[in-house]
Amino acid sequence: MEISPSILSADFGNLLSDIRKVEKEKPEYLHIDIMDGHFVPNITIGPLVLNALKDKTGIPLDVHLMIEEPDKYIKEFVDAGAKNITVHQEACVHLDRTLQLIKSMGVNASVALNPATSLDTLRYVLSSVDMVLIMTVNPGFGGQVFIDGMYEKIRELASIRNEKGLNFKIEVDGGINIDNIKDVVLAGADVIVAGSFIFANGDPGENLKKLREAALK
Ligand code: DX5
Ligand code: ZN
Repeated sequence: MEISPSILSADFGNLLSDIRKVEKEKPEYLHIDIMDGHFVPNITIGPLVLNALKDKTGIPLDVHLMIEEPDKYIKEFVDAGAKNITVHQEACVHLDRTLQLIKSMGVNASVALNPATSLDTLRYVLSSVDMVLIMTVNPGFGGQVFIDGMYEKIRELASIRNEKGLNFKIEVDGGINIDNIKDVVLAGADVIVAGSFIFANGDPGENLKKLREAALK
């Protein structure tokens, strides 16, 4: 299991200091939520902020684009240090083209599904993705409650991967805490995104450690 702390719930006035606190616990990725106020009803940050962070942290940047027309911005995010780029199936008219575009820039290409979107929509692209992100809340905000119906979706995706002999990772994002992380991992998740559990209260490094421990219990 790998963990990708989401800075959405970090203190943006002291972002680097919050990142230093999780660095001590060596997270595998740092999850960056990009929102445009169109695809989702919230606005966050753009490539400018990633550019400012990229030489200051060694944690690979896992960029989750919750934006319309992502093709227009992919190069900017790659130049700003993204190691993985996730686009939403719902935001891509030509999903295969978008995934090929990401891969042509030498970074990992991933696709996200909103809770209501079927796994069937990915059937013909599964062999060309590095990761599938299952949203376990409706995207747009941190601190929401995990949607229990998503366990079944994670299990189904893990079983499709197995049947087809593919090796993309399964990332899960939204509402993860110490009470549900173990079940999410047992369902088949490889990469766990956690925002408010890590950054909203207490020490982010300690919270990350607690999550890892809870997954192993
Ligand atoms: C929500 C974002 C998530 C968010 C998760 O749209 O994609 O990455 O930061 O936050 P928590 O862990 O608080 O649900
Ligand atoms: Zn996210």
